[in-house]
Amino acid sequence: MEGRGDTLGSLNESYSTPLAGRYNLDRPSDLRAAPPWHRLAYIIKALPAGLEPLANELRVPPDGRVLDYGCADAPYRRLFPPSVDYVGADLPGNPVASVEIGADGTVPVASESFDAVLSTQVLEHVEHPDLYLGECWRVLRPGGRMLLSTHGIMVHHPDPVDYWRWTCEGLRRVVSSAGFEVERFEGIMGLAATGIQLVQDGIWWRVARPLRPVVALLLQSIIAVVDRLQGPASRRHNALVFALIARKP
Ligand SMILES: C[S@@+](CC[C@H](N)C(=O)[O-])C[C@H]1O[C@@H](n2cnc3c(N)ncnc32)[C@H](O)[C@@H]1O
Repeated sequence: MEGRGDTLGSLNESYSTPLAGRYNLDRPSDLRAAPPWHRLAYIIKALPAGLEPLANELRVPPDGRVLDYGCADAPYRRLFPPSVDYVGADLPGNPVASVEIGADGTVPVASESFDAVLSTQVLEHVEHPDLYLGECWRVLRPGGRMLLSTHGIMVHHPDPVDYWRWTCEGLRRVVSSAGFEVERFEGIMGLAATGIQLVQDGIWWRVARPLRPVVALLLQSIIAVVDRLQGPASRRHNALVFALIARKP
């Protein structure tokens, strides 16, 4: 069953899964074990592979504090040592989160109380990106860093809603406008590979269910080859996911 809570795009046209089921469905931890014939097989591997080196650039001290703002099932907790105080925040109803995000989108934690903020595949789901980024800035200590990833070009994937997409310049702009200095900016999965992904997404519901694994295996294999042809410079302009490190001065 396809779930509305799929991190990388539910493609669920019915969009009727009860909210209570969100945390059992197709979540990131399940996605990591996805087979090569999964419809998102390539980006499921490429995304964490792209984020891991960026997590090191957060330079979180061994006894530091990290806020995962929109944590779902905290797929990136493993990137930090157990000694790090890792706080997951999410909308009400997520048992993994220890902090509940308010109805106004703010996060009830003290200002300047974190060394790093993790925001992975959340910004596109947030009603007020400026408010959200303002909260990221507020909770960080001066000199603290944020790792943010969100979608450049991607199919609609509500969780529970899906509002935004960014160009490379637009994303830099909203992050800088919140007071951050963007230190590093990367694209994950370049334009040609993303184009093939979109073709697959576009035909997915027309393909007979027994044939879908074959279609996904074929197209995801092509995506893997095609994405090697496009370098980091190109991906920084057009990508399925943009990921950045930003510092609070
Ligand atoms: C696609 S999931 C990403 C989860 C996780 N960060 C990851 O990388 O797999 C989007 C997450 O954003 C959360 N979310 C939605 N609206 C939010 C908001 N206004 N503020 C913070 N988180 C929000 C959702 O509850 C969900 O956990």
